[in-house]
Amino acid sequence: MTRPSSQFVPTARVLHWLMAVMILAMLFIGVGMVASVSERHSWLLAIHKPLGIAIFVLAVVRLIVRLRNPPPPLPADLPAVQKLAAYASHYLLYALMLTIPLVGWAMLSAGGYPVMLSHSLRLPPIFPVNAAAFAILRHAHAWLAMLLFLTFLAHLGAALYHGLIRRDGVLSSMTGIGRRLG
Ligand code: HEM
Repeated sequence: MTRPSSQFVPTARVLHWLMAVMILAMLFIGVGMVASVSERHSWLLAIHKPLGIAIFVLAVVRLIVRLRNPPPPLPADLPAVQKLAAYASHYLLYALMLTIPLVGWAMLSAGGYPVMLSHSLRLPPIFPVNAAAFAILRHAHAWLAMLLFLTFLAHLGAALYHGLIRRDGVLSSMTGIGRRLG
């Protein structure tokens, strides 16, 4: 019988760090965009839409990679409540990575706005034009993004706890760098 690996597969690690950068950038681009009334607004929106759709596509790829390659087990001595928190936050992160871009796309569709990924590439609407739905989806997009940011902070805190305090190999299972670094 083969022992489960102590590290995530390389594809999972590349997707994890690439998406971490993309999502963090997206959160700041989103907030900067709605706070700006200059021509920067349309410039930021033109980045926000294709980057958000790219995050959705990569999240689907990542889910497939994860289902095909089970992650390394958490340390056996980790308290049950911490294991539960880890699994719950991972499910929530996947759910948000898939839901937020779809809500953004549906919001623009409900508002009757074209979803342009470039000058010529236009995505089809995924929601009928409806002003009330547009308002609800717009709020939902902002609140879900806030929830993603809070979950990201909790995830970062947990990673540092494992890497710097417990030094139990959880952080190195995703960095791919030797176990002594946690
Ligand atoms: C993971 C992906 C995404 C993240 C993290 C994200 C995050 C955000 C954030 C933080 C805001 C500012 C909300 C506020 O403070 O009111 C925002 C606004 C916005 N997002 Fe996204 N977004 C994502 C994907 C998308 C996608 C795929 C689209 C469209 C195809 C989109 C369209 C918009 C639009 C139009 C706004 C401005 C809404 C307004 O004017 O209030 N987003 N997004």
